[in-house]
Formats: sequence, C-alpha cells, structure tokens
Amino acid sequence: MGTLEPCFCSWIWRERIGDSVINRGLIDAMDELRGLDRSVNGGHYPNGYTSYHAKMRPEHHPSIRPLAARILLSAEQFLTTMGLDRSLALRLSLTDLFFNVNGQHSSHARHRHGDSEVSGVYYVKAPADGATIGFTSPLDPLMMASRLDAFEPDSPWTSIHHAHQPQDGDLLLFPSWLLHEVSLQTAAVERRSFGINLSLSRWRDQERETGLHARELVALGGHEQRSLF
Ligand SMILES: [Fe+2]
Repeated sequence: MGTLEPCFCSWIWRERIGDSVINRGLIDAMDELRGLDRSVNGGHYPNGYTSYHAKMRPEHHPSIRPLAARILLSAEQFLTTMGLDRSLALRLSLTDLFFNVNGQHSSHARHRHGDSEVSGVYYVKAPADGATIGFTSPLDPLMMASRLDAFEPDSPWTSIHHAHQPQDGDLLLFPSWLLHEVSLQTAAVERRSFGINLSLSRWRDQERETGLHARELVALGGHEQRSLF
C-alpha cells in the first residue's frame, strides 16, 4: 500500500478579522487620506482609486493602525501554521499597506508581488455581486494536456484556478509569488480593500526602535514571546 506525500502546494490563509464598526472607521480614514493625495499619479486606477503610488503610509492613521497590528498577528499565525522555524527569531514587517476603491468595470490583471514573502488583501467593503479574487496555480503553464477534469474539482493537488468571493471583514494572506487577479466588476457597486505586503528579515539592533509595524517572532518554549503590540 503506497502513501501520499504532500508537496508543492500553495496555502491561502482566510480569516474574518473586521466588523461593521471597524470598517466604517476605515472608510472614513480612506476618504480623508484620499482627499490629501497630491501625488503625480493622483491615485490613478481604471474605474477606481489606489493609494499605492501616493507617498503616504496609511498604517500611521489612528483608525488604520489597529488593522495593521491585526494583520501582523494573523500573518504570524499563518507563517507558524505553515511551519516557520521560530528559533530563527525573525522580524515580520508590514512593508506595504495601501488601499483601493474600485467601481463598476474595474479589474486587476493577473500578477504577483515582489520584494516580500507574504501578501494579502483585507476587504473593507465587498458587495455580494462585486468582483472575485482568483488565484492561479504555478503549475498552470506546465500541465499542458493533463486530464485534470478526471479528478475531484476542488482537489488542491490538481486544481489550477481558485476563486474567492470576498465578504466584508475578510482577510486573505498568501505567498507573494502566488499569481492572483481581480475579476471584472460588472455590477454598479463600490468595493474597498487594503493591499498588503509583509517581509521576513533578521533583526538589527538599530531597527528595534523604529519597528512600529513589525512583529518579533521568537522561539516558543523557554522564551517569553515578545511583541511590539
Ligand atoms: Fe495583488
């Protein structure tokens, strides 16, 4: 009798971390910061707005700061569940937190994120008839004529595409190399989200004081687990 050995899979972390009160505060903060955006690109995004090109750090806004801390906590749980070696005492940093407002006919082509280990999205406002986020297996261009339709459709070992219909308060985290895209939003609804990038690095002493949006991952057992929050 043979055994199955799992390998080469792509994990996606899904967690509800927000509620209507939190999201109302985030929407007000988004509108406030968007009004202050004087960047050259002016937040250009087809049929929407993004703060990605603006020289602002939304995580410093008092209404957004708790979200940044909560994302770091979830990312730590995600990495730990995936088997991160905590004896390395790495630093997990929130390197990008930008917000997006998407209207009808907006979409985002397939892409991945560079210069980070973990990426994700938090949905402030995700109408039921809004766009979905879709993930593509890195095996997609390699499988050619494989008869994937002969397997159960939701098998993580053989499925090529995975679509998620987000809801308000959803957080998704995934490896930054995982290809993803946002479908064309056909309905006349507004969708709001935060894009997320996190990176792992080793602490340097001089960074400890400036690590407001970082989380120290220390070994469990024999050490007190420390955090900047
Ligand atoms: Fe993305």
